[in-house]
Amino acid sequence: MSRRKLVVLAQIAALVSIALYLFVYVGFRSATGPLTKVQPLDPLDISPDAILPRQNLTAYVLAILDPTTDTDLATFKCPSLDLNRYKYLQQQDYSASSQPPIRYFFALNLRNCLPLLPRLLGSVLEAIRFLGPASCALSIVEGNSPDGTAEVLAALEPQLSKLGIRTYFTLNMVLDPLGEGSDRFTSLASLRNMALAPLRTTTTPADYTDDATTVLFINDVAICPDDILELAHQRRHQAADMACAMDWTGDPPAAAIFYDSYIARAIHGDLFFEIPAGPSWARATDLFWNEPVSRARFARHEPFQVFSCWNGAVVFTARPVVEGQVAFRASRKDRGECHAGEPELFCKDMWLEGYGRIMVVPGVNLEYTVETGERIKAVKGFASSWVAESDAGTKIEWLPAPDQVKCMPTFDNQSWRPWNDTLA
Ligand SMILES: *[C@@H]1O[C@H](CO)[C@@H](O)[C@H](O)[C@H]1NC(C)=O
Ligand SMILES: *[C@@H]1O[C@H](CO)[C@@H](O)[C@H](O)[C@H]1NC(C)=O
Ligand SMILES: *[C@@H]1O[C@H](CO)[C@@H](O)[C@H](O)[C@H]1NC(C)=O
Repeated sequence: MSRRKLVVLAQIAALVSIALYLFVYVGFRSATGPLTKVQPLDPLDISPDAILPRQNLTAYVLAILDPTTDTDLATFKCPSLDLNRYKYLQQQDYSASSQPPIRYFFALNLRNCLPLLPRLLGSVLEAIRFLGPASCALSIVEGNSPDGTAEVLAALEPQLSKLGIRTYFTLNMVLDPLGEGSDRFTSLASLRNMALAPLRTTTTPADYTDDATTVLFINDVAICPDDILELAHQRRHQAADMACAMDWTGDPPAAAIFYDSYIARAIHGDLFFEIPAGPSWARATDLFWNEPVSRARFARHEPFQVFSCWNGAVVFTARPVVEGQVAFRASRKDRGECHAGEPELFCKDMWLEGYGRIMVVPGVNLEYTVETGERIKAVKGFASSWVAESDAGTKIEWLPAPDQVKCMPTFDNQSWRPWNDTLA
């Protein structure tokens, strides 16, 4: 037999074994979610200048489609989903021919985060399978990723379409928040809006009058399916407009420092922890040092209201976005608005439009790499570890906006401003 024929035979054999694997393990595995079969992988079209060799690309796609796949890729095991707790979030199964309204809109901005993809997208996909693929959309804006992230997404997209998920994958090479001369927050706001854009073009506001659609905006975090569903559940349970996780940095267990302190403001307008001049992180473990209600609820893993948060993953009502009331933006220097990150301004605009039921769900704890993310789960627990405790608590008593909010263009420059200063 010629060498060429042998190569072709070997390729066919490899594809057949992948197909068999998917049929046996993935097709019959989804014990909790609606029964959705994963179709065998198409032969992946690899361009000659591809970054990832075929076998690596295949490994990523398989690991994302089925997190139990045994690959060399780094990931960690997540708890299985509590069917009873989250069942009411499920959408009825529609026939393949109909296009039900989008009830869960997943939005991600990804850049150069290849090692994270199996855990991150694997969890997103498991949540989508559980919720009902036909009622879910997945919008990913990716760009400037020399590590092969784009190739994995390109190979993944047809697989997701076969599952009935509406996918909107956008490649952006123009906007670069890290690029020279670019205003970082303006670029970041544009990228986030790009991820939300399909929500406004593919739906009608009539769908949203009862807050029926949820946006799940997830950063490049090591997240589990139960984190995603717990955020969605708590938003419904507490009748909140927006629910954020907690995110962490540092070197756990020795030190875990709340990460998103630039964006986050507690319900009385102050930072989550005090940042003395330096800036210094010496007070980082003393969270909500001057806000007793948040402090107590945080300690008991009960959701609590805040002025603003993002913290790696958020879930919010689609309505103000679909109706064009709220979008991501940079601060309005012409009006003297405090220089702030686009997620803080997003929360501020939510408040201005009457969507001030913004909260943190402290049972959901995230980090930005697989390795440290796993250690954070060991220290802070999985979302499912805290559900009994958080269920035992009372519902949030929603408050109006604080009079003043801490303005912090840089960590070393803090002052108080009326929360709605730019309205005047
Ligand atoms: C491809 O996978 C092999 C085996 O896991 C690994 O050693 C190699 O570094 C990977 N190559 C790339 C470009 O990721
Ligand atoms: C501190 O921030 C305020 C408000 O944005 C700004 O007007 C002021 O110039 C800043 N001061 C310094 C020293 O950067
Ligand atoms: C800002 O909000 C306060 C309540 O916090 C309100 O009394 C005031 O009228 C608002 N200012 C403007 C300009 O809307």
